[in-house]
Amino acid sequence: MSWQPLLRKYQEFLPINEQTPILSLHEGNTPLIEAKQLSKELGIRLFLKFEGMNPTGSFKDRGMVLAVTKALEEGNKTVICASTGNTSAAASAYAASAGMDSIVVIPDANIALGKLAQALTYGAKVISIKGNFDDALDIVREISKQEAYTLVNSVNPYRIEGQKTAAFEIVDELGFAPDYLAIPVGNAGNITAYWKGFKEYKEAGKMSSLPKMLGFEAEGAAALVKGEPILHPETIATAIRIGRPASWNGAMNAVQESQGVIDSVTDDEILEAYQLVARKEGVFVEPGSAASLAGIFKKWREGYLPKGSTVVSVLTGHGLKDPNIAVQTVNTKPTIVENNYDAVLQAIQSLTER
Ligand code: F0G
Repeated sequence: MSWQPLLRKYQEFLPINEQTPILSLHEGNTPLIEAKQLSKELGIRLFLKFEGMNPTGSFKDRGMVLAVTKALEEGNKTVICASTGNTSAAASAYAASAGMDSIVVIPDANIALGKLAQALTYGAKVISIKGNFDDALDIVREISKQEAYTLVNSVNPYRIEGQKTAAFEIVDELGFAPDYLAIPVGNAGNITAYWKGFKEYKEAGKMSSLPKMLGFEAEGAAALVKGEPILHPETIATAIRIGRPASWNGAMNAVQESQGVIDSVTDDEILEAYQLVARKEGVFVEPGSAASLAGIFKKWREGYLPKGSTVVSVLTGHGLKDPNIAVQTVNTKPTIVENNYDAVLQAIQSLTER
């Protein structure tokens, strides 16, 4: 089939019509990569839904393309969001492509370098607060009530509508629903969106069974697991450094209805999964994304995942988003040598001997 914008492809499931001025930066249609080596090691069929392949490098593009399209359709001129980084990159990119302005409010010192570079380069007005994501979201929610700015955080229902298309793609590609879908959880919009997508696709007769939803928070930001908000969330996975998830009910509903689990993973587990998926499968993701895979490893160790089951790990963002963590985590450095054949050859030999 020839290429279609995401919103057209799944139009029948989305709040748009032929007149809607749909935007597209070629979001969606991301690869579902078979994790051959990890599948063999774990005795399951593991697939990686690599959302880092979206135009701004994260799954946020699916929801943002719809949220900004609807803002444009409604005649709005400016979008606003709070963000741990990826939402701000997506909002500012789609606003730019729509000829709109964007305002983003981010937590000071806790946003990955690549994401900040994106927001600034796409032309957002970037405001950094001495607070965390939850504080920033409170503020932009209030401002968007007073001013003529469209709030494009996932409390905007169009964000969830757009993001559910990833569930459709997984089913279209596999031909059936996976047994388990593992996903990182921060503000909890994405797990809510996937579950909505799976249910709608089943209702439309596109699949017969629903997956169990496995949501994974970072341990220092595991409000849903602990059952209470966390005022000072902490994790190396800054994307999901969120203590008061806005879609709390959506996430808990997804887990309960699907008979899945909500669990947490430590920063060490996240970084281990982060390195393993790069080294064993050639897929470079950001730390927050690796929470889903870290969660799969944890559940596998607990004996929770039956042999041979089909498991999809949603890898939400690209590794290039956070180059600092990459360089800090990998405990090897380039070997620096003189500019000549012998020196390079000698260095290669000593490296390959190890
Ligand atoms: N993974 C990545 C890479 C993210 O950027 C986020 C959220 C999540 C997972 C969690 O998704 O919030 O729907 O549960 N990032 C938001 C942001 C909060 O501002 O970019 P969620």
